[in-house]
Amino acid sequence: MVQVNANFAKLQSSYLFSTIGKKVREYQTAHPRAEIIRLGIGDVTRPLPAEAIAAMHAAVDEMAHAETFKGYPTDIGITFLEEAIRADYALRGVALELDEIFLSDGAKSDCGNIGDIFGTENIVAVCDPIYPVYVDTNVMAGRAGNPDAGGHWNRLVYLDCTAETGFLPQLPGDRADLVYLCSPNNPTGTAMNRAQLQAWVDWANENASILLYDGAYEAYITEDLPRSIYEIPGAETCAIEFRSFSKTAGFTGVRCAYTIVPKALKSGDTSIHALWGRRQATKFNGVSYITQRGAEATFTAKGRAQVRETIAYYLQNAGAIKAGLESAGFSTWGGVNSPYVWLKAPDGMTSWELFDLLLNEAQVVGTPGAGFGPAGEGYFRLTGFGTAEKTRQAVERIQTRFAKFEAGGVLG
Ligand code: MLT
Repeated sequence: MVQVNANFAKLQSSYLFSTIGKKVREYQTAHPRAEIIRLGIGDVTRPLPAEAIAAMHAAVDEMAHAETFKGYPTDIGITFLEEAIRADYALRGVALELDEIFLSDGAKSDCGNIGDIFGTENIVAVCDPIYPVYVDTNVMAGRAGNPDAGGHWNRLVYLDCTAETGFLPQLPGDRADLVYLCSPNNPTGTAMNRAQLQAWVDWANENASILLYDGAYEAYITEDLPRSIYEIPGAETCAIEFRSFSKTAGFTGVRCAYTIVPKALKSGDTSIHALWGRRQATKFNGVSYITQRGAEATFTAKGRAQVRETIAYYLQNAGAIKAGLESAGFSTWGGVNSPYVWLKAPDGMTSWELFDLLLNEAQVVGTPGAGFGPAGEGYFRLTGFGTAEKTRQAVERIQTRFAKFEAGGVLG
């Protein structure tokens, strides 16, 4: 009989956002006329920047003629998109070599796939709560023993991020070989400052550990905070950075991302850059030419302005959610430098209780904090990625529902 990967049995039966999608579909089937507002999964709603659309149309036309047709993207070699990414990093004072930039179809894929090049015996530290992909992919790869009583996997180190620490991770007290960091954070919306990142970089260099830095939301930083881990001295010897066009330029349905693996990053004498290059050359055939042209256009002056406009739109939504909920008495985090608003479920409710209540009584979908890890229990995430109108309606519905609560309604 074929043996399956037994590690899959250690996973929760369904991926968080699939579970939410199923619950919402069931509710919609039972209530066909309900107008559900979806602020759960962080999927964008604004169209692609006009510059990207024009560039992709032109690229389609190139594909229509033998003289300009392109085959495997990997045959393009060093691409114009990598040049544009390098120039973008240079604006922040970060000098990259072109072949330190690896294009891909998504930061989600790369955050999971990166585990291929590291031994299963490594101890992996993750923040709790955190984007579930970091944990699930490491469980799949066999970097988990048995769960302890607190629901944590005992070969994954959990860095509890609580309201007391402003939902920021503290340096691990125990050994951690690989550490996933996400700033601005998904789900809590908090962003790390220079001193906090410097402490992580220094710790990683001292301990010969590697930081897996997810910068998928860096474009949402509006305050004076680092946008890349490589703005921090010493990061090139201890950090890999993941970035994406999904939340930056609306590419969730197009798929384009990049991962930076510096040549200076080593494990002993082994080049991590060489290993990742080898892995990608074997398992990935590159990003389509049309997509790369679209992504490149987001770095032109006009493209940048269009991207900024869209990000301002989502940030305004996030700000409206934050202000609206705070005025209704909720405690919130994030919503500034981040499209996500993290909130405390009222009156001791669990996060899934709040999910059900908001779906059933306000027809608003969010993401239960417990889905991001045990420390997320009792919290909830809403996204600013909806339309402004739907966001306004959602806030009003929540305010109305909890005004009833304040006045002595069901939960009181
Ligand atoms: C989220 O909602 O956390 C993200 O949209 C999921 C993802 O980017 O894969």
